[in-house]
Amino acid sequence: MSNRLAVTPNDLRAFWMPFTANRQFKQNPRMFVKAKDMHFTTAEGRQVLDGTAGLWCVNAGHCRPKITKAIQDQAAELDYAPAFQMGHPGAFELANRIADITPEGMDRVFYTNSGSESVDTALKIALAYHRVRGEGSRFRLIGRERGYHGVNFGGISVGGIVSNRKMFGTLLTGVDHIRHTHDIEKNRFTRGVPAHGAELADDLERIALLHDPSTIAAVIVEPVAGSTGVLPPPKGYLERLRAICDKYGILLIFDEVITGYGRLGTPFAAQYFNVKPDIITTAKGLTNGVIPMGAVIVKNEIHDAFMTGPEHLIEFFHGYTYSGNPVASAAGLATLETYREEGLFERIAKISKYWEDAMHSLADAPNVIDTRNIGLIGAIELAPIAGQPTKRAFSAFVRAYEKGVLIRTTGDIIALSPPLICEKKHIDQIVSTIRDVLGEVG
Ligand SMILES: Cc1ncc(COP(=O)(O)O)c(C=O)c1O
Repeated sequence: MSNRLAVTPNDLRAFWMPFTANRQFKQNPRMFVKAKDMHFTTAEGRQVLDGTAGLWCVNAGHCRPKITKAIQDQAAELDYAPAFQMGHPGAFELANRIADITPEGMDRVFYTNSGSESVDTALKIALAYHRVRGEGSRFRLIGRERGYHGVNFGGISVGGIVSNRKMFGTLLTGVDHIRHTHDIEKNRFTRGVPAHGAELADDLERIALLHDPSTIAAVIVEPVAGSTGVLPPPKGYLERLRAICDKYGILLIFDEVITGYGRLGTPFAAQYFNVKPDIITTAKGLTNGVIPMGAVIVKNEIHDAFMTGPEHLIEFFHGYTYSGNPVASAAGLATLETYREEGLFERIAKISKYWEDAMHSLADAPNVIDTRNIGLIGAIELAPIAGQPTKRAFSAFVRAYEKGVLIRTTGDIIALSPPLICEKKHIDQIVSTIRDVLGEVG
Protein backbone atom coordinates (compact mmCIF):
# COMPACT_ATOMS: atom_id res chain seq x y z
CA MET A 1 0.00 0.00 0.00
CA SER A 2 1.22 3.47 -0.75
CA ASN A 3 1.90 5.83 2.09
CA ARG A 4 -0.85 8.41 1.71
CA LEU A 5 1.10 11.00 3.66
CA ALA A 6 3.78 10.89 0.98
CA VAL A 7 1.26 12.04 -1.62
CA THR A 8 1.24 15.82 -1.62
CA PRO A 9 -1.30 17.83 -3.63
CA ASN A 10 1.34 18.84 -6.15
CA ASP A 11 2.70 15.36 -6.63
CA LEU A 12 1.92 14.63 -10.26
CA ARG A 13 3.03 11.00 -10.40
CA ALA A 14 -0.19 9.15 -9.62
CA PHE A 15 -2.31 10.47 -12.47
CA TRP A 16 -1.45 8.67 -15.73
CA MET A 17 -2.75 11.27 -18.15
CA PRO A 18 -4.72 10.34 -21.28
CA PHE A 19 -3.36 11.12 -24.75
CA THR A 20 -0.57 13.14 -23.12
CA ALA A 21 3.21 13.26 -23.24
CA ASN A 22 3.24 12.53 -19.48
CA ARG A 23 6.93 13.10 -18.82
CA GLN A 24 7.03 16.36 -20.76
CA PHE A 25 3.87 17.59 -19.01
CA LYS A 26 5.01 16.69 -15.52
CA GLN A 27 8.30 18.55 -15.96
CA ASN A 28 6.45 21.64 -17.04
CA PRO A 29 2.75 21.36 -16.11
CA ARG A 30 0.05 23.33 -17.85
CA MET A 31 -2.74 23.58 -15.29
CA PHE A 32 -6.09 25.31 -15.62
CA VAL A 33 -7.86 26.28 -12.41
CA LYS A 34 -10.80 28.36 -13.66
CA ALA A 35 -12.72 29.14 -16.82
CA LYS A 36 -15.28 31.69 -17.97
CA ASP A 37 -16.81 32.15 -21.43
CA MET A 38 -13.89 32.19 -23.92
CA HIS A 39 -11.07 31.96 -21.40
CA PHE A 40 -9.26 29.65 -19.01
CA THR A 41 -7.24 30.89 -16.06
CA THR A 42 -3.98 29.05 -15.41
CA ALA A 43 -2.58 28.12 -12.01
CA GLU A 44 -0.23 31.11 -12.37
CA GLY A 45 -3.23 33.42 -12.91
CA ARG A 46 -2.75 33.92 -16.66
CA GLN A 47 -5.70 34.11 -19.08
CA VAL A 48 -5.65 31.62 -21.96
CA LEU A 49 -8.07 32.02 -24.85
CA ASP A 50 -9.82 28.74 -25.66
CA GLY A 51 -9.21 28.15 -29.36
CA THR A 52 -10.50 24.59 -29.22
CA ALA A 53 -13.69 24.66 -27.08
CA GLY A 54 -11.82 22.45 -24.65
CA LEU A 55 -11.74 19.26 -26.69
CA TRP A 56 -14.31 20.35 -29.30
CA CYS A 57 -17.02 20.23 -26.65
CA VAL A 58 -17.56 23.55 -24.82
CA ASN A 59 -19.67 24.97 -27.62
CA ALA A 60 -21.52 27.53 -25.48
CA GLY A 61 -18.36 28.75 -23.74
CA HIS A 62 -17.29 28.07 -20.18
CA CYS A 63 -19.20 28.15 -16.90
CA ARG A 64 -22.45 29.29 -18.44
CA PRO A 65 -24.81 30.17 -15.56
CA LYS A 66 -27.88 28.29 -16.82
CA ILE A 67 -25.96 25.04 -17.20
CA THR A 68 -24.16 25.41 -13.88
CA LYS A 69 -27.42 26.07 -12.04
CA ALA A 70 -29.24 23.18 -13.71
CA ILE A 71 -26.53 20.80 -12.58
CA GLN A 72 -26.52 22.17 -9.04
CA ASP A 73 -30.30 21.99 -8.72
CA GLN A 74 -30.55 18.51 -10.19
CA ALA A 75 -27.80 17.10 -7.97
CA ALA A 76 -29.70 18.38 -4.93
CA GLU A 77 -33.08 17.01 -6.08
CA LEU A 78 -32.56 13.64 -7.75
CA ASP A 79 -28.90 12.71 -7.93
CA TYR A 80 -29.24 9.30 -9.49
CA ALA A 81 -31.95 6.95 -10.64
CA PRO A 82 -31.34 3.43 -11.91
CA ALA A 83 -31.04 3.46 -15.66
CA PHE A 84 -32.42 -0.04 -16.26
CA GLN A 85 -36.16 -0.79 -15.90
CA MET A 86 -36.61 2.62 -14.19
CA GLY A 87 -36.74 6.17 -15.46
CA HIS A 88 -36.84 9.83 -14.53
CA PRO A 89 -38.49 12.68 -16.46
CA GLY A 90 -35.31 14.55 -17.44
CA ALA A 91 -33.97 11.77 -19.65
CA PHE A 92 -37.25 11.61 -21.60
CA GLU A 93 -37.48 15.37 -21.91
CA LEU A 94 -33.93 15.63 -23.18
CA ALA A 95 -34.51 12.88 -25.76
CA ASN A 96 -37.48 14.90 -27.04
CA ARG A 97 -35.45 18.09 -27.22
CA ILE A 98 -32.72 16.26 -29.14
CA ALA A 99 -35.35 14.82 -31.49
CA ASP A 100 -36.58 18.40 -32.10
CA ILE A 101 -33.30 19.23 -33.84
CA THR A 102 -32.46 15.95 -35.61
CA PRO A 103 -33.17 15.23 -39.28
CA GLU A 104 -36.76 14.18 -39.88
CA GLY A 105 -37.61 10.64 -38.88
CA MET A 106 -34.60 10.29 -36.57
CA ASP A 107 -36.43 10.64 -33.28
CA ARG A 108 -35.07 7.83 -31.13
CA VAL A 109 -32.21 8.41 -28.71
CA PHE A 110 -30.00 5.95 -26.81
CA TYR A 111 -27.83 7.49 -24.08
CA THR A 112 -24.15 6.81 -23.41
CA ASN A 113 -21.45 8.64 -21.47
CA SER A 114 -18.95 9.52 -24.18
CA GLY A 115 -18.25 9.59 -27.87
CA SER A 116 -16.42 6.27 -27.69
CA GLU A 117 -19.43 4.64 -26.08
CA SER A 118 -21.75 6.22 -28.63
CA VAL A 119 -19.70 4.69 -31.42
CA ASP A 120 -19.62 1.21 -29.92
CA THR A 121 -23.33 1.49 -29.18
CA ALA A 122 -24.07 2.50 -32.78
CA LEU A 123 -22.05 -0.43 -34.15
CA LYS A 124 -23.94 -2.81 -31.87
CA ILE A 125 -27.30 -1.32 -32.87
CA ALA A 126 -26.37 -1.78 -36.54
CA LEU A 127 -25.39 -5.43 -36.09
CA ALA A 128 -28.40 -6.24 -33.93
CA TYR A 129 -30.78 -4.39 -36.26
CA HIS A 130 -29.86 -6.59 -39.18
CA ARG A 131 -30.15 -9.65 -37.01
CA VAL A 132 -33.62 -8.85 -35.66
CA ARG A 133 -34.76 -8.36 -39.26
CA GLY A 134 -33.43 -11.78 -40.24
CA GLU A 135 -30.32 -10.48 -42.01
CA GLY A 136 -27.76 -11.75 -39.53
CA SER A 137 -25.33 -12.38 -42.40
CA ARG A 138 -24.55 -8.67 -42.30
CA PHE A 139 -21.72 -8.71 -39.80
CA ARG A 140 -19.04 -6.59 -41.44
CA LEU A 141 -18.33 -3.03 -40.36
CA ILE A 142 -16.58 -0.58 -42.65
CA GLY A 143 -14.58 2.40 -41.46
CA ARG A 144 -12.22 4.80 -43.17
CA GLU A 145 -8.50 5.45 -43.04
CA ARG A 146 -7.69 8.34 -40.69
CA GLY A 147 -11.12 8.03 -39.05
CA TYR A 148 -11.36 8.69 -35.32
CA HIS A 149 -14.19 6.96 -33.51
CA GLY A 150 -12.96 7.02 -29.96
CA VAL A 151 -10.84 4.53 -28.13
CA ASN A 152 -13.01 1.53 -27.33
CA PHE A 153 -12.47 -1.69 -29.23
CA GLY A 154 -15.26 -1.15 -31.74
CA GLY A 155 -14.16 2.42 -32.35
CA ILE A 156 -10.49 1.64 -32.88
CA SER A 157 -11.39 -1.30 -35.12
CA VAL A 158 -13.34 0.88 -37.55
CA GLY A 159 -11.03 3.83 -36.84
CA GLY A 160 -8.08 4.52 -39.06
CA ILE A 161 -5.51 6.31 -36.93
CA VAL A 162 -2.56 3.96 -36.85
CA SER A 163 -1.08 4.90 -33.48
CA ASN A 164 -4.46 4.37 -31.82
CA ARG A 165 -4.72 0.79 -33.16
CA LYS A 166 -1.29 -0.73 -33.53
CA MET A 167 -0.74 -1.72 -29.88
CA PHE A 168 -4.01 -3.52 -29.37
CA GLY A 169 -3.90 -6.87 -31.07
CA THR A 170 -6.41 -8.18 -33.53
CA LEU A 171 -9.26 -5.79 -32.74
CA LEU A 172 -12.73 -6.68 -34.09
CA THR A 173 -12.77 -9.12 -36.96
CA GLY A 174 -14.82 -8.51 -40.09
CA VAL A 175 -13.75 -4.89 -40.46
CA ASP A 176 -12.52 -3.19 -43.61
CA HIS A 177 -11.64 0.40 -44.47
CA ILE A 178 -12.23 2.76 -47.36
CA ARG A 179 -9.50 5.28 -48.24
CA HIS A 180 -9.27 8.69 -46.58
CA THR A 181 -10.04 11.80 -48.61
CA HIS A 182 -7.02 13.98 -47.89
CA ASP A 183 -5.38 15.01 -51.16
CA ILE A 184 -3.25 18.02 -50.49
CA GLU A 185 -1.82 18.15 -54.00
CA LYS A 186 -5.25 18.62 -55.57
CA ASN A 187 -7.11 20.42 -52.79
CA ARG A 188 -4.51 22.67 -51.16
CA PHE A 189 -5.87 25.85 -49.46
CA THR A 190 -9.50 24.89 -50.01
CA ARG A 191 -12.24 27.03 -48.51
CA GLY A 192 -15.05 24.76 -47.33
CA VAL A 193 -15.49 21.42 -49.09
CA PRO A 194 -12.70 20.37 -51.47
CA ALA A 195 -13.48 20.02 -55.17
CA HIS A 196 -11.67 16.73 -55.69
CA GLY A 197 -12.26 13.29 -54.26
CA ALA A 198 -15.98 12.41 -54.46
CA GLU A 199 -15.04 9.25 -56.35
CA LEU A 200 -13.23 7.95 -53.26
CA ALA A 201 -16.68 7.04 -51.92
CA ASP A 202 -16.77 4.33 -54.58
CA ASP A 203 -14.30 2.40 -52.40
CA LEU A 204 -17.37 1.36 -50.43
CA GLU A 205 -18.87 -0.30 -53.48
CA ARG A 206 -15.60 -2.11 -54.25
CA ILE A 207 -15.36 -3.40 -50.70
CA ALA A 208 -19.04 -4.38 -50.69
CA LEU A 209 -18.58 -6.33 -53.90
CA LEU A 210 -15.36 -7.92 -52.64
CA HIS A 211 -17.01 -9.32 -49.51
CA ASP A 212 -20.50 -9.53 -51.02
CA PRO A 213 -22.92 -6.78 -50.01
CA SER A 214 -25.05 -9.23 -48.03
CA THR A 215 -22.23 -9.40 -45.45
CA ILE A 216 -21.94 -5.64 -44.84
CA ALA A 217 -23.81 -4.19 -41.85
CA ALA A 218 -22.71 -0.57 -41.76
CA VAL A 219 -20.18 2.03 -42.76
CA ILE A 220 -19.14 4.71 -40.29
CA VAL A 221 -17.55 8.04 -41.17
CA GLU A 222 -17.12 11.42 -39.60
CA PRO A 223 -18.89 13.83 -41.99
CA VAL A 224 -15.94 16.16 -41.34
CA ALA A 225 -12.99 14.15 -40.06
CA GLY A 226 -11.84 16.07 -36.99
CA SER A 227 -9.22 14.46 -34.82
CA THR A 228 -7.06 13.40 -37.75
CA GLY A 229 -6.62 17.06 -38.61
CA VAL A 230 -9.83 18.47 -40.09
CA LEU A 231 -10.76 16.96 -43.44
CA PRO A 232 -14.02 18.33 -44.85
CA PRO A 233 -15.66 15.84 -47.23
CA PRO A 234 -15.05 16.35 -50.96
CA LYS A 235 -18.01 17.88 -52.79
CA GLY A 236 -20.54 15.15 -53.49
CA TYR A 237 -18.72 12.50 -51.45
CA LEU A 238 -21.29 12.01 -48.70
CA GLU A 239 -24.13 11.89 -51.23
CA ARG A 240 -22.26 9.13 -53.06
CA LEU A 241 -21.75 7.14 -49.85
CA ARG A 242 -25.47 7.46 -49.15
CA ALA A 243 -26.37 6.21 -52.62
CA ILE A 244 -24.08 3.16 -52.33
CA CYS A 245 -25.52 2.35 -48.90
CA ASP A 246 -29.04 2.54 -50.32
CA LYS A 247 -28.10 0.34 -53.26
CA TYR A 248 -26.76 -2.43 -51.03
CA GLY A 249 -28.82 -2.15 -47.84
CA ILE A 250 -25.86 -0.90 -45.79
CA LEU A 251 -26.49 1.38 -42.81
CA LEU A 252 -24.75 4.75 -42.93
CA ILE A 253 -23.48 5.98 -39.55
CA PHE A 254 -22.34 9.57 -39.21
CA ASP A 255 -20.03 10.03 -36.25
CA GLU A 256 -21.00 13.55 -35.24
CA VAL A 257 -19.24 13.63 -31.90
CA ILE A 258 -17.48 16.79 -33.10
CA THR A 259 -19.87 18.15 -35.73
CA GLY A 260 -23.01 17.64 -33.64
CA TYR A 261 -24.65 20.52 -31.75
CA GLY A 262 -23.80 23.42 -33.97
CA ARG A 263 -20.18 23.28 -35.00
CA LEU A 264 -21.09 23.81 -38.67
CA GLY A 265 -23.95 26.22 -37.94
CA THR A 266 -26.65 23.55 -38.18
CA PRO A 267 -27.61 21.19 -35.36
CA PHE A 268 -25.89 18.31 -37.16
CA ALA A 269 -23.62 17.94 -40.18
CA ALA A 270 -26.35 15.78 -41.71
CA GLN A 271 -28.40 18.95 -42.18
CA TYR A 272 -25.42 21.03 -43.31
CA PHE A 273 -24.63 18.56 -46.10
CA ASN A 274 -28.25 17.59 -46.62
CA VAL A 275 -27.41 13.90 -46.39
CA LYS A 276 -29.44 11.80 -43.98
CA PRO A 277 -27.60 8.92 -42.32
CA ASP A 278 -29.32 6.03 -40.54
CA ILE A 279 -27.57 6.56 -37.22
CA ILE A 280 -25.84 9.60 -35.72
CA THR A 281 -23.39 9.32 -32.84
CA THR A 282 -22.99 12.34 -30.56
CA ALA A 283 -21.48 13.40 -27.22
CA LYS A 284 -19.32 16.44 -26.35
CA GLY A 285 -21.50 19.48 -27.20
CA LEU A 286 -24.62 17.72 -25.92
CA THR A 287 -23.77 18.84 -22.38
CA ASN A 288 -21.29 21.56 -23.31
CA GLY A 289 -18.60 19.18 -22.09
CA VAL A 290 -19.55 19.87 -18.50
CA ILE A 291 -20.88 16.43 -17.56
CA PRO A 292 -20.02 13.30 -19.55
CA MET A 293 -22.89 12.27 -21.78
CA GLY A 294 -23.39 10.90 -25.27
CA ALA A 295 -26.43 10.13 -27.39
CA VAL A 296 -26.94 7.82 -30.33
CA ILE A 297 -29.72 9.03 -32.59
CA VAL A 298 -31.38 6.43 -34.81
CA LYS A 299 -33.99 6.38 -37.52
CA ASN A 300 -37.39 5.45 -36.18
CA GLU A 301 -37.54 2.30 -38.35
CA ILE A 302 -34.34 1.01 -36.79
CA HIS A 303 -35.69 1.46 -33.29
CA ASP A 304 -39.07 0.03 -34.27
CA ALA A 305 -37.49 -3.12 -35.71
CA PHE A 306 -36.48 -4.05 -32.15
CA MET A 307 -39.96 -3.51 -30.68
CA THR A 308 -41.30 -6.99 -31.33
CA GLY A 309 -41.81 -10.10 -29.22
CA PRO A 310 -43.31 -10.40 -25.74
CA GLU A 311 -43.58 -7.00 -24.08
CA HIS A 312 -41.98 -7.99 -20.79
CA LEU A 313 -38.71 -8.88 -22.52
CA ILE A 314 -35.76 -6.51 -22.89
CA GLU A 315 -35.49 -5.62 -26.58
CA PHE A 316 -31.81 -4.60 -26.74
CA PHE A 317 -29.26 -6.02 -24.33
CA HIS A 318 -27.10 -2.96 -24.00
CA GLY A 319 -26.81 0.08 -21.74
CA TYR A 320 -24.69 1.84 -19.14
CA THR A 321 -25.17 2.49 -15.42
CA TYR A 322 -25.12 6.19 -16.24
CA SER A 323 -27.24 6.13 -19.45
CA GLY A 324 -29.44 9.23 -19.12
CA ASN A 325 -28.09 10.09 -15.68
CA PRO A 326 -30.29 12.81 -14.07
CA VAL A 327 -27.50 15.37 -13.65
CA ALA A 328 -26.23 14.78 -17.19
CA SER A 329 -29.78 15.07 -18.52
CA ALA A 330 -30.22 18.39 -16.69
CA ALA A 331 -26.93 19.60 -18.14
CA GLY A 332 -28.05 18.52 -21.62
CA LEU A 333 -31.39 20.30 -21.33
CA ALA A 334 -29.79 23.52 -20.10
CA THR A 335 -27.15 23.31 -22.83
CA LEU A 336 -29.67 22.88 -25.66
CA GLU A 337 -31.70 25.74 -24.17
CA THR A 338 -28.62 27.95 -24.09
CA TYR A 339 -27.84 27.17 -27.75
CA ARG A 340 -31.42 28.01 -28.71
CA GLU A 341 -31.92 31.11 -26.58
CA GLU A 342 -28.67 32.65 -27.73
CA GLY A 343 -29.04 31.56 -31.37
CA LEU A 344 -25.55 30.08 -31.21
CA PHE A 345 -25.91 27.77 -34.22
CA GLU A 346 -27.24 30.61 -36.37
CA ARG A 347 -24.31 32.78 -35.25
CA ILE A 348 -21.92 30.56 -37.17
CA ALA A 349 -23.37 31.63 -40.51
CA LYS A 350 -22.56 35.23 -39.56
CA ILE A 351 -19.04 34.63 -38.36
CA SER A 352 -17.82 31.78 -40.56
CA LYS A 353 -16.69 34.01 -43.45
CA TYR A 354 -14.51 36.01 -41.08
CA TRP A 355 -13.21 32.74 -39.66
CA GLU A 356 -12.48 31.40 -43.15
CA ASP A 357 -10.53 34.50 -44.17
CA ALA A 358 -8.62 34.38 -40.89
CA MET A 359 -7.62 30.75 -41.38
CA HIS A 360 -6.44 31.35 -44.93
CA SER A 361 -4.55 34.49 -43.95
CA LEU A 362 -2.04 32.06 -42.42
CA ALA A 363 -1.31 30.44 -45.80
CA ASP A 364 1.94 32.40 -46.12
CA ALA A 365 3.14 31.86 -42.53
CA PRO A 366 6.39 29.86 -42.13
CA ASN A 367 6.15 26.13 -42.93
CA VAL A 368 2.42 26.20 -43.66
CA ILE A 369 1.57 23.73 -46.45
CA ASP A 370 -2.22 23.89 -46.23
CA THR A 371 -5.04 25.80 -44.58
CA ARG A 372 -8.64 24.62 -44.58
CA ASN A 373 -11.92 25.47 -42.88
CA ILE A 374 -15.57 24.63 -42.58
CA GLY A 375 -18.19 25.99 -40.17
CA LEU A 376 -16.27 27.05 -37.08
CA ILE A 377 -13.48 24.54 -37.63
CA GLY A 378 -10.08 25.28 -39.10
CA ALA A 379 -6.75 23.60 -39.70
CA ILE A 380 -3.24 24.77 -40.44
CA GLU A 381 -1.08 21.96 -41.78
CA LEU A 382 2.67 22.34 -41.28
CA ALA A 383 5.57 20.71 -43.05
CA PRO A 384 7.10 18.25 -40.58
CA ILE A 385 10.68 18.76 -39.40
CA ALA A 386 12.74 16.17 -41.30
CA GLY A 387 13.07 13.05 -39.16
CA GLN A 388 10.97 14.52 -36.33
CA PRO A 389 7.31 14.27 -37.25
CA THR A 390 4.88 16.08 -34.89
CA LYS A 391 7.66 18.11 -33.22
CA ARG A 392 7.03 21.38 -35.06
CA ALA A 393 3.31 21.38 -34.26
CA PHE A 394 3.86 20.31 -30.66
CA SER A 395 6.35 23.16 -30.15
CA ALA A 396 3.80 25.54 -31.65
CA PHE A 397 1.17 24.24 -29.22
CA VAL A 398 3.41 24.83 -26.19
CA ARG A 399 4.47 28.29 -27.38
CA ALA A 400 0.86 29.30 -28.17
CA TYR A 401 -0.17 28.26 -24.67
CA GLU A 402 2.63 30.35 -23.20
CA LYS A 403 1.41 33.28 -25.27
CA GLY A 404 -2.17 32.85 -24.07
CA VAL A 405 -3.99 30.77 -26.71
CA LEU A 406 -5.01 27.13 -26.46
CA ILE A 407 -4.70 25.33 -29.79
CA ARG A 408 -4.74 21.62 -30.51
CA THR A 409 -2.34 19.65 -32.64
CA THR A 410 -2.53 16.28 -34.25
CA GLY A 411 0.52 15.11 -36.13
CA ASP A 412 1.84 18.30 -37.74
CA ILE A 413 -1.60 19.85 -38.08
CA ILE A 414 -2.99 22.62 -35.89
CA ALA A 415 -6.74 22.09 -35.43
CA LEU A 416 -8.97 24.92 -34.23
CA SER A 417 -12.58 24.92 -33.04
CA PRO A 418 -13.36 27.79 -30.65
CA PRO A 419 -16.62 28.00 -28.69
CA LEU A 420 -19.55 29.18 -30.81
CA ILE A 421 -19.72 32.42 -28.77
CA CYS A 422 -16.37 33.49 -30.17
CA GLU A 423 -16.06 37.03 -31.52
CA LYS A 424 -13.91 38.62 -34.20
CA LYS A 425 -11.41 39.89 -31.65
CA HIS A 426 -10.87 36.32 -30.43
CA ILE A 427 -10.33 35.08 -33.97
CA ASP A 428 -7.80 37.88 -34.50
CA GLN A 429 -5.93 36.87 -31.36
CA ILE A 430 -5.85 33.20 -32.35
CA VAL A 431 -4.48 34.01 -35.80
CA SER A 432 -1.90 36.57 -34.72
CA THR A 433 -0.64 34.26 -31.98
CA ILE A 434 -0.27 31.36 -34.42
CA ARG A 435 1.56 33.59 -36.89
CA ASP A 436 4.00 34.72 -34.17
CA VAL A 437 4.49 31.20 -32.93
CA LEU A 438 5.17 29.77 -36.38
CA GLY A 439 7.82 32.46 -36.83
CA GLU A 440 9.44 31.43 -33.58
CA VAL A 441 9.36 27.64 -33.75
CA GLY A 442 11.04 27.59 -37.16
C1 LIG B 1 -15.61 11.75 -34.22
C2 LIG B 1 -15.33 11.30 -32.82
N1 LIG B 1 -15.84 10.15 -32.37
C3 LIG B 1 -15.64 9.72 -31.13
C4 LIG B 1 -14.86 10.44 -30.25
C5 LIG B 1 -14.61 9.92 -28.87
O1 LIG B 1 -15.24 10.68 -27.92
P1 LIG B 1 -14.85 10.49 -26.35
O2 LIG B 1 -13.47 11.03 -26.19
O3 LIG B 1 -15.92 11.28 -25.66
O4 LIG B 1 -14.94 9.03 -26.06
C6 LIG B 1 -14.31 11.65 -30.66
C7 LIG B 1 -13.47 12.45 -29.75
O5 LIG B 1 -12.81 13.38 -30.13
C8 LIG B 1 -14.53 12.08 -31.98
O6 LIG B 1 -14.00 13.21 -32.44
